[in-house]
Amino acid sequence: MMIYKTAEEIELMRQSALLVSKALTEVALFLKPGITTFSIDKMISEFIRDNQAIPSFLNYHGYPYSSCISVNDVVVHGFPGKNELKDGDIISVDIGVIRNGWHGDHAYTFAIGQPGKEVSELIQVTKESLYKGIEKAIAGNRIGDISFAIQEHTEKKYGYGVVRELVGHGLGRSLHEDPQVPNYGKRGSGPKLKEGLVLAIEPMINLGKRDVYTEEDGWTVRTKDGKPSVHFEHDICVQKGKADILSDYSIIEEAEQANPNLFSSHPVKLFDGGH
Ligand code: MF3
Ligand code: CO
Repeated sequence: MMIYKTAEEIELMRQSALLVSKALTEVALFLKPGITTFSIDKMISEFIRDNQAIPSFLNYHGYPYSSCISVNDVVVHGFPGKNELKDGDIISVDIGVIRNGWHGDHAYTFAIGQPGKEVSELIQVTKESLYKGIEKAIAGNRIGDISFAIQEHTEKKYGYGVVRELVGHGLGRSLHEDPQVPNYGKRGSGPKLKEGLVLAIEPMINLGKRDVYTEEDGWTVRTKDGKPSVHFEHDICVQKGKADILSDYSIIEEAEQANPNLFSSHPVKLFDGGH
C-alpha cells in the first residue's frame, strides 16, 4: 500500500531528511586518513541524539550500529569497525533518523585523497544517475521510468554493474514503505506516481560486474569481483512537473570541498521536464 503525505507531513519529513544531510555534513568535515569507521559511527550517533532524534538503523532487524559505512568493495550495510581509513578509499555513509515520528534516510559516497580516474568517474556518474532518476519522479510517471533512467545512465552508457538485489523504497512513518524502487527496469512499468509519495532513491553501482554477496555477518554486501561500488541516496517527494528533493547535498558538498583530505565530486543540478 502506498501512503501519500500531506503538505504538513512533507515538511516534517524534510526536517528528518535535512537532519541526515547535516549529519553527513559533519562526516564530511571529520573524514581523514587514519580514523576508524567506528569513530565516524559514534560521532553520527551523538549528533543525531543531540538533535532530538534517534538513529533508525540501530536494532532495525537486528542491525547493530547507527550508520552503514561501506568502504571500497562493500556495496552497502557495512559495519563500522576498527579498520582505519587510508588514502584512496571510497566510503559510502548511509544514515537514518526518526524525528517527530518521521524517517529520514540518505547516503553519500566520499573519497579520501585522490581516487584514480576510473573510480572518480564512477562516483560522479552514480551521483548523476540519482538525479536522472529524480527527474522522472513526477506525478503521472511510473516507478519504471525512474529505474530505467538510472540503468540507462550507468549500465548502458558506462558499462557499470547495477546491483539488482537491493532497491530504493517508500519512506514515511516506516523506514521501508511501498513501493520498491529498483535501479533497473522498463520505462512505463510499475506503480504510477502521485503527488505526496515520498521515496528514497538509491542507486548502488559497481565499477565491475553487478554480482554481489552477503558476508557471514548477515549484513555486509560486497561485490563478487572485489571492485569498488558507489552508493548515493536522496529522499524526494513526488510532485507535478518537478520532484521536491527533501535531503540536501549542497551543505555536504560545501564541507567536502572545504576538507583538504577529500576528493570532491561535482554538484549535479536537477532539470525539470522529465516527460
Ligand atoms: N538506506 C538503507 C535502506 O534503505 C539502509 C538500511 S540499513 C539498516 O535499506 F540497517 F537499517 F537495515
Ligand atoms: Co534507503
